Amino acid sequence: MIGSDAILTLHEVGKNFAGLHVIDDLTFSVRRGSRTALIGPNGAGKSTVFNLISGVHAIDTGCILLDGVDVSRIPSRGRIHHGVARNFQNIRLMPHLSALENVLVGQHCRNSGWRGVLQPVNLIPRNRWREEARGALAEAGLARYERATVGSLPYGVQKRIELVRALVAKPRLLLLDEPAAGLNPAETDALRQHLTAICGEGRITLLVVEHDMHFVDALCDRVVVLNFGRKIAEGTPDEIRADALVREAYLGAEPEPAEAREDRAQNPAPHQAAKLEVVQRHGS
Ligand SMILES: Nc1ncnc2c1ncn2[C@@H]1O[C@H](COP(=O)(O)OP(=O)(O)O)[C@@H](O)[C@H]1O
Ligand SMILES: [Mg+2]
Repeated sequence: MIGSDAILTLHEVGKNFAGLHVIDDLTFSVRRGSRTALIGPNGAGKSTVFNLISGVHAIDTGCILLDGVDVSRIPSRGRIHHGVARNFQNIRLMPHLSALENVLVGQHCRNSGWRGVLQPVNLIPRNRWREEARGALAEAGLARYERATVGSLPYGVQKRIELVRALVAKPRLLLLDEPAAGLNPAETDALRQHLTAICGEGRITLLVVEHDMHFVDALCDRVVVLNFGRKIAEGTPDEIRADALVREAYLGAEPEPAEAREDRAQNPAPHQAAKLEVVQRHGS
C-alpha cells in the first residue's frame, strides 16, 4: 500500500508478556477510509494489537505509524490527538455517571489546553459541548437514556453509549473490539447500520475485531487474520472465507498438502463452511 493511503501501519511489531510472544513480527496496513476487520481465534492477540495501537501497552520491537508518523513511543493520550479512538472488549464506562456525563468525558480530549483552562470560568460556553453530546446520543437513538445511570442500563445500551463516547472524540481511526458481542440480532443489525452510516463517506476509518462473519461481511471491505500473534491471511471477506489456513486456525485441523488446500479453497465443503461460521460467531 502506498504510504499516504495508509492511515495505520504496523511494521514488524512484536510484544512479549513475561517472555510469552503474544504478537510476533506483525505487519499490516489499514487503508484510509476502509472498514477493516481483525479476526482470529480467542487468544490470537487481537485485543493486544488494539492495546499496542492505542498505546495502552508499549511495543517491544517494530514500529506503529499513524498517518505516516511513528507513534511507537508516544503515550496513549498523545495518540488520541492523532485521531485514534477506541472502545474496550469489556465495557469501560463510568457506571455511576449518567449516559450524558459519560459522553461528555469522551469530548475531553478535544477540550484540552487553553479551552480546558477557560471552561471552568465560563469563557467557553459549556452548553455547546453538552448540546453536542446530547445530539450524539440522539443520533444513536439513545436520547431517552440521557439521564439514566449507566450501570443500571442493559448491556446492549451500554455498548452503544461507549460507541457514542468514542465518536464524540471525532476520531479519524476508530478501533472497535467486539462491538456486537452480547447483542441480540436486532441490536447487531442496528449497530451495523449505524457504523455503515458514520463510516460511509470515508471520514472515519474503522478497524474492528469481530467474530460474527455475517457482520464482517456486511460491514467490512478488508479482513486481516491473526493466529498465535501472527498474520496468517489478509484479503476481502470472500477471500478469507475460502482461505484454507484460516479454516485450519478456526477448526484446529491438521495442515493439508498445498494441492489439497487449493482444491478445498475453490470448493469448500458446505458443512465445513457452516461450522466455520458457527465457530466464529461463538468466538471459540
Ligand atoms: N496484559 C497482559 N499480560 C499478560 N498476558 C496478556 C496480557 N494481555 C494479553 N495477554 C495474553 O496475550 C494473549 C492474547 O490475548 P488477547 O490479545 O486478549 O487475545 P484475543 O483478543 O485475540 O482473544 C493471551 O494469551 C493473553 O493471555
Ligand atoms: Mg480480545
